[in-house]
Amino acid sequence: MDNDDPIQMLVRDHDTVRKLAEKYLGSSDIEVKKQAGTQLLQVIHLHSRLEESIYYPNVRCLDDDLVRHFEQDHLKVDDLLATLQGMSMDEARAEPMMREMLNAVLGHIEEEESELFPRLRQSSVDMSDIGLQMQSFEANLVHMQAQASDQGGRRR
Ligand SMILES: [Fe+2]
Ligand SMILES: [Fe+2]
Repeated sequence: MDNDDPIQMLVRDHDTVRKLAEKYLGSSDIEVKKQAGTQLLQVIHLHSRLEESIYYPNVRCLDDDLVRHFEQDHLKVDDLLATLQGMSMDEARAEPMMREMLNAVLGHIEEEESELFPRLRQSSVDMSDIGLQMQSFEANLVHMQAQASDQGGRRR
């Protein structure tokens, strides 16, 4: 796999979401659900920020309406995500809300893969440039998270 291919980087995230969703939806074990659910909230949040910060601005030139439609999808998911982040995964209302969120996310990523990725492949947009921007965005996030947990450690 090319590490700086933006489409492969995004599909890798999508695959992680699909696998975790399968785990969450396919299990009745509360511990499995808690773990997969917590991971899903994190992965989806970071993936959306990456797309909004780097990916969408770079591909807006291909189809402004389509990118705007995807941004609307993110807003809807963010609402559910924020509510879910504020509750415990074993609350009774967490499961139906999680299902609604996953439903929206899984449909959204299918659409990104079928509507947007093929067009980007065929376009003259500089893919490796987007890939590099995405890599440095991710590296920055990792750095910031490490700093935050370092500070948390010192405060203890
Ligand atoms: Fe997206
Ligand atoms: Fe995506």
